Amino acid sequence: METLAAIASRRSVRKFSDRPVEEEKLQAVLEAVRMAPSWANMQCWRLVVVKDEAARAKISEFSYVESYFAARGYKSNPAMKALAEAPVVIVACAVPEQSGEMAGQAYYLADMGIASQNLMLAAHDQGLGSVFVGVFDEDKLGELLDIPPGVRIVGLFPLGYPLGEPKAGPPRKPLEEIVHYEKWKG
Ligand SMILES: Cc1cc2nc3c(=O)[nH]c(=O)nc-3n(C[C@H](O)[C@H](O)[C@H](O)COP(=O)(O)O)c2cc1C
Repeated sequence: METLAAIASRRSVRKFSDRPVEEEKLQAVLEAVRMAPSWANMQCWRLVVVKDEAARAKISEFSYVESYFAARGYKSNPAMKALAEAPVVIVACAVPEQSGEMAGQAYYLADMGIASQNLMLAAHDQGLGSVFVGVFDEDKLGELLDIPPGVRIVGLFPLGYPLGEPKAGPPRKPLEEIVHYEKWKG
């Protein structure tokens, strides 16, 4: 798939069929993470690939954080069912010391963001779907998956074949609102 077309047509997928993901497709998605750029090429990312149904059900349960969603009038994380239904969940973790810090900004989140977009675009290229799930109970997940102390869980990515066509994506701000030329104006 051509890069710009892939970027434009990727959507967050939250409904999955139970069709299994072929191993070579999973490996292509993981390889796309491995090839991402990172601070000083330190490659802080670590991935936990979860296929076990009971574990995925627990991951799904831990993606509802009451303090976050109740305050916003949500009864669940919109991606909660996806985490249980997709045949694979990739848990994206970071080792923050294996990235940079500059002027008070921790760059491991930048490294993880780039790697995450690689993951989602590679999935899309393979005819698969995914969604970045950033709301979850990190302590409970860490315990479930034996994540070592100091390693941060940054995102959960259900991965599988989309069930039906995802709806048109939510609108984006126009370029005039987000781009300044030469200097910040207004
Ligand atoms: C850092 C981050 C965290 C997100 N967390 C969640 C989440 O917890 N649950 C969910 O359903 N979607 C989540 N999303 C998906 C966004 O809602 C989605 O990307 C956005 O609405 C744009 O839609 P699109 O991906 O279809 O273009 C997250 C996206 C990002 C980048």
